[in-house]
Amino acid sequence: MGSLWRDGLDAHAVDELPEDASHEVLVVCAGLVGLTVAVRLAQAGRRAVVLDAAAPGALTTGSSTGKVTLLQGTRLSAVRDRSSLDVAAAYLEACRSGAAWLRAQLSEHDEGCEQATAYSFATTSAGAERLEAEHALARELGLDVRWAAPRESPVAARAAVALDGQFMLDPMVLVRRLVATARAAGVPVVAGCRVVDVRSSDSGHEVETELGELHADVLVLATGTPVVDRGLTFARTSPSRSHVAAFRTGRRLVEGMHLSVDGETRSLRPARRGGQEYLVVAGNDDAVGHARSTAERARELHRWVADRFPSAVLAHQWAAQDYDSLDGAPYAGRLGRDGPWFATGFGKWGLAAGAASGIALAQEIASGRRPDWAVRLYDRPGTASDVAAAVARNADAVGHLLGGMARAIGGSQDEPPAEGEGRVGRGVPPIAISTVDGVTRRVSAVCTHLGGILAWNDEECTWDCPLHGSRFAADGRRLEGPARDDLTQEP
Ligand SMILES: Cc1cc2nc3c(=O)[nH]c(=O)nc-3n(C[C@H](O)[C@H](O)[C@H](O)COP(=O)(O)OP(=O)(O)OC[C@H]3O[C@@H](n4cnc5c(N)ncnc54)[C@H](O)[C@@H]3O)c2cc1C
Ligand code: FES
Repeated sequence: MGSLWRDGLDAHAVDELPEDASHEVLVVCAGLVGLTVAVRLAQAGRRAVVLDAAAPGALTTGSSTGKVTLLQGTRLSAVRDRSSLDVAAAYLEACRSGAAWLRAQLSEHDEGCEQATAYSFATTSAGAERLEAEHALARELGLDVRWAAPRESPVAARAAVALDGQFMLDPMVLVRRLVATARAAGVPVVAGCRVVDVRSSDSGHEVETELGELHADVLVLATGTPVVDRGLTFARTSPSRSHVAAFRTGRRLVEGMHLSVDGETRSLRPARRGGQEYLVVAGNDDAVGHARSTAERARELHRWVADRFPSAVLAHQWAAQDYDSLDGAPYAGRLGRDGPWFATGFGKWGLAAGAASGIALAQEIASGRRPDWAVRLYDRPGTASDVAAAVARNADAVGHLLGGMARAIGGSQDEPPAEGEGRVGRGVPPIAISTVDGVTRRVSAVCTHLGGILAWNDEECTWDCPLHGSRFAADGRRLEGPARDDLTQEP
């Protein structure tokens, strides 16, 4: 029961790694950001190659809920409060540019893509107050938001703000379109090529990959969070993982795209796929590696849907993560003076905002200039509250590191775990033991990024790092996050 969007999808047409090992531009990642950069650079006459460790859209982009909207919960007020009014205005302009570009890549004839009203709803009085603030700020910044009528809300909402004329899409339809556009413009898209190291200097980048050593004059690392990180971006972002489920509904039960602004996150949208109607619901966000039982968190979300939409039948379920920034606005730019280009910190709103960062990076790489909104957004000064948030976040990471070590020292390793379970056992280094599909495996429980002690994810049968969000398969293979290497095998 994987992602609705990937169901029945043929493997992407992808290319062999070009024989020439030296490239003008290497874009590492075939998610939305990387594909946007590659397409825009090709259109500006630059020659790029796209590499991805997995396949196009394989991580967050292809697992998203596909809402392209300028009304994003209470994000504008969050950015204004934690940064400034001008940064909130620049963020909105960025999303406007990104959304317009995405819409130009697709049409309402594309499956799963349609115009829709976006709603932010509150179920408590505190949430309703936050909505008041968002409504006022959105109008001040020129967004034509309105108060929704009670009948527009699919759940018992106290108040809801609406923005008409937004767009929802099937993210894998988008990915396939961008891959096709990139390839038609002469950009090879190479899958199954993980980058394991980068050495940057004023003469370019030496890029070590699983398929060999490459040189790039320009390197874009749009890997969700940068896998090579001189700017310590992982210390300024926090990874948050959400559960998503698609329910077969027979007929459309919900009109428009809805997002809660208080309590547990609840995101709802309808989707039509293969002639079937679905209700797609996401929520129960947790910091990666922090949930006691991810399987129980997924079941809680399913129960919430069953209580409100009893006829809906669970058809697909999956989970995905994205990275929150300190102030709610994304980061994009260069890692150090000669370092790679990167973009991250979309906080689960990286379709419009991710396309915008791709547009800005491509423009700066091609012409040396950024759009005005990008200067105001990405070059914003840090604030005192940023520093406090970073300190708190890193203190929390250290707490988890020490807690994980204490649990590892005290853990028992008598019996192999039951099917679908994993635990950290005693040992130096501590050992992560799991049983999946009848096979008991033992790998190091120490994250290859900066030594976090891993936690078992019983929903996805993976080892997840509570420090900065790296994830590994039960056999130790690195799946995502800032770690570059697999876990070592233990006897
Ligand atoms: C549950 C969920 C729902 C969401 N819904 C929405 C929504 O409705 N609307 C919205 O605007 N945003 C949404 N988002 C956010 C949005 O999907 C993301 O912000 C956006 O897709 C990020 O794109 P990306 O290109 O940065 O990352 P990704 O799509 O994750 O791409 C990163 C790519 O890098 C590759 N990679 C990683 N490491 C390496 C390596 N070492 N070597 C080579 N390749 C590597 C990966 O394989 C991957 O393909 C959602 C996010 C989540 C988690
Ligand atoms: S992701 Fe940083 S230590 Fe694991």
